[in-house]
Amino acid sequence: MDISKAIDLDKYRHRNVTFAVNASRSGKHTYSRFDLSEAANRGLQKQFPTWTVGTPGHRELEFRLDVTDDQAVFSYRLTDSAFRFRSEQRLFSIAALRPTVAHALVWHSRPGRDECFLDPFCGSGTIIAERAYYPFGKLYGGDISEVAVEAAKQNVASIDGAVIRRWDACNLPLEQGTVDKVVSNLPFGEQILDPGEIYDLYLKFFKELKRIMKPNGSAFLMTDKVKELLKVTDQFGLECYVELELSLKGLHPKVLKVNF
Ligand SMILES: C[S@@+](CC[C@H](N)C(=O)[O-])C[C@H]1O[C@@H](n2cnc3c(N)ncnc32)[C@H](O)[C@@H]1O
Repeated sequence: MDISKAIDLDKYRHRNVTFAVNASRSGKHTYSRFDLSEAANRGLQKQFPTWTVGTPGHRELEFRLDVTDDQAVFSYRLTDSAFRFRSEQRLFSIAALRPTVAHALVWHSRPGRDECFLDPFCGSGTIIAERAYYPFGKLYGGDISEVAVEAAKQNVASIDGAVIRRWDACNLPLEQGTVDKVVSNLPFGEQILDPGEIYDLYLKFFKELKRIMKPNGSAFLMTDKVKELLKVTDQFGLECYVELELSLKGLHPKVLKVNF
């Protein structure tokens, strides 16, 4: 494939730039990630003979090659590492998600232009702030922690129409049948609650969720307490299945979709 067409690298075609490809690999292969990275570097130099491989910290263009079994994703870095935390302009509460992960969750939920969107356990509002990159009808977030709510309010202060409240997600100040979409990083029972309290919390939360969701609404919920969540949704007769598995800070939470 001519990669210059895929990611518009033509402006660098005749320039002496430094570059490098970072590679990762999972599955059964006869080569290492270092072999991968060297092969990709050679391939790029063939297409761009004026480029030289840079050293870590000294490279003008950076690429990634992630191979999983027989699938490869080749990507070009558009932003520097500060962008991972939205250039340090955000406050993050305990158990906060990285904005990039929050954004991926929002994107995965296929944001609808006029939808009423809710994160009932919003912490410092990372998901709400990322959701605001797409058009929305209404945007609600809240948390039981006063500190988290204060951080979330600051984080979304510039977003017109975003409402952040202190609340208990099991008793929400929202009308019956009003919410189209929920994306939320649920308490897992690791940092905030005792694992034994999780099932009871999910049970009470779902009673409330069933009340406020519109028919055909959907929720994308991240947790590593999958058994507890499936047991609860089963009790309420809701369709619920695992859509994604993530690897985050040594944990492997899943994202489950619940249809109302
Ligand atoms: C995993 S964290 C969410 C972090 C958030 N996604 C972020 O990026 O900042 C779970 C949140 O649930 C909140 N929480 C726990 N029990 C709650 C309840 N009953 N009602 C509302 N929030 C609750 C905690 O205070 C915590 O902020």
